Amino acid sequence: MGKVYLFEHPLIQHKLSILRDKNTNVKDFRELVREISMLMAYEVTRDLPLEDVEIETPICKTTVKRLQGEDLGIIPVLRAGLGMVDGMLELVPSAKVGHIGLYRDPETKLPVEYYCKLPTDVEKRRLIIVDPMLATGGSSNAAISLLKEHGGKDISLMCLIAAPEGVKAVMEAHPDVDIYIAAQDECLNEHAYIVPGLGDAGDRIFGTK
Ligand code: PRP
Ligand code: URA
Repeated sequence: MGKVYLFEHPLIQHKLSILRDKNTNVKDFRELVREISMLMAYEVTRDLPLEDVEIETPICKTTVKRLQGEDLGIIPVLRAGLGMVDGMLELVPSAKVGHIGLYRDPETKLPVEYYCKLPTDVEKRRLIIVDPMLATGGSSNAAISLLKEHGGKDISLMCLIAAPEGVKAVMEAHPDVDIYIAAQDECLNEHAYIVPGLGDAGDRIFGTK
């Protein structure tokens, strides 16, 4: 069964509190999503493999640890997931980035796929799907299934805010996937929005409402 990691670090929680505030403007919202993603990436990449490398300091020769190759793939779910990419790339600039376009049909609440472009060597990479919101879990489950159809094997999911319903749905559909979140909220409302949540993440990142 996949694990759920909840990041309770005070810096993440502080920034998340500002993100939730309806008076936070687009510029600050975008910046906070980037910063929280960077802080979360620090933890999510905790077990990246290292290799020994010989170097010479000004004093002597020595063996040091370096990251083993370029084995990470960051997969934002469009649109809102795009806001999380830059923060992660600041820590792992050599990661490749794949894009999955999904939107949630307002009537059915089901995800509709409209784009998919992934790194060619997706089967060799550690893949981290990024999307600020895990609500019903439909979009995350669709993104995970798509990655698996393209050969993805090592997949995890990183979200800012999750509803219990979404966490349960992903754990049931994809028990091999670990989930990283900054908060688990109370529930979904009748429009399948997370309560208290932060509203529509895509609209708040791109200023479209
Ligand atoms: C939001 C969010 C997730 C999805 C979560 O995207 O970014 O992708 O909803 O909901 P779910 O867990 O119930 O599937 P949205 O469909 O609003 O698209 P957007 O990012 O383009 O605005
Ligand atoms: N998508 C969002 O952007 N926000 C929610 O609360 C649920 C789905």
